[in-house]
Amino acid sequence: MSKNFRVLAAVTLAATLAAASGCSSSRDSDDSSSSSSSNLVGIAMPTKSLERWNNDGANLDALLKKAGYETSLQYADNKVDQQITQLQNMINLNPKVLVVASIDGTALGPVLEKAAAQKIKVIAYDRLINSTANVDYYATFDNYQVGKLQGEFIVEKLGLADGKGPFNLEPFAGSSDDNNAKFFFSGAWDVLKPYVDSGKLVIPSGKKLASNDDWKNVAIDGWTSQKAQSEMDNRLNSFYTGGKKVDVVLSPNDSLALGIEQSLESQGYKPGTDWPIITGQDADLANVKNILADKQSMTVWKDTRTLGEQVSKMVDQIIKGETVETNDTSTYNNGVKVVPSYLLPPVVVTKDDVKTKLVDSGFYTADKLGL
Ligand code: BGC
Repeated sequence: MSKNFRVLAAVTLAATLAAASGCSSSRDSDDSSSSSSSNLVGIAMPTKSLERWNNDGANLDALLKKAGYETSLQYADNKVDQQITQLQNMINLNPKVLVVASIDGTALGPVLEKAAAQKIKVIAYDRLINSTANVDYYATFDNYQVGKLQGEFIVEKLGLADGKGPFNLEPFAGSSDDNNAKFFFSGAWDVLKPYVDSGKLVIPSGKKLASNDDWKNVAIDGWTSQKAQSEMDNRLNSFYTGGKKVDVVLSPNDSLALGIEQSLESQGYKPGTDWPIITGQDADLANVKNILADKQSMTVWKDTRTLGEQVSKMVDQIIKGETVETNDTSTYNNGVKVVPSYLLPPVVVTKDDVKTKLVDSGFYTADKLGL
């Protein structure tokens, strides 16, 4: 039995016993600032299928336990209904705080209303939760900056500011239900669009991206590598005939980049010769290996350990009734209110600095990367 499961099982058992004996909870708070139980923090993560969320969940779970809290960590297989059920089950255990990395940022209003009724505080983790007043804080990396770094990398690599071009660009965006995806795209497109407008970047697939709001025209739902791969296959098969080559791919993250790289490989592109520039995000292991093998040009690294530390600190501040640290109170309007946020800085990693940034910081061992 895994540690997390053991904790959950223990917590579930305690709640069942409490319900059976007619108590509202076996761990009623003695500092009565809230009606929720004193020590439990619920953590809802979207999926185990992407490396980053496994790291995020495990890391936050460990930090909270180290700080003396009980946790219930749940993964929802990228299924919105499953995440809602998991949140409902956590709410039944009366935690002090829920930390939620949502799947669909607009689907949690009703379940969070129940949390609010029990005075459970909610922190949106990495992804904003929209269209509800019942989200108290947001902690994330600067999402717009992630896209901006990808756009600036492309401009620099291609020498666009020096007037070079035209180059063939294929743009992609993240899942259309993820609030972050539009920020990533906007950050990149604000940098790249002037070059599309001037004809220095050409989009052979003809995707319509006249404004940042058109990002859903290139969205890959569920952020899956497979969908990105088949979309790239389609574009290459349909629009890159007669020897035409793609020079650059704007990929918002590593899972999409992986699929795009598989497509390029199957179409006969060769690293070091005609392989295009490709961006990414997350520093997933497979992608860092691809960076070392010249199959990906960069990744935007978000050291999820720092996000975990920040969120763990915020949880502690909430539970102790202290002022909760935020550094942005204007950017993230969720449609009902501006959610006070803490934004962390993302960092570009290329082949040249995999060692100094990812290994020396302890994010990966040299061994794991085959260095
Ligand atoms: C996260 C990215 C991640 C993507 C897919 C986004 O919300 O910010 O880091 O790559 O989801 O899971």
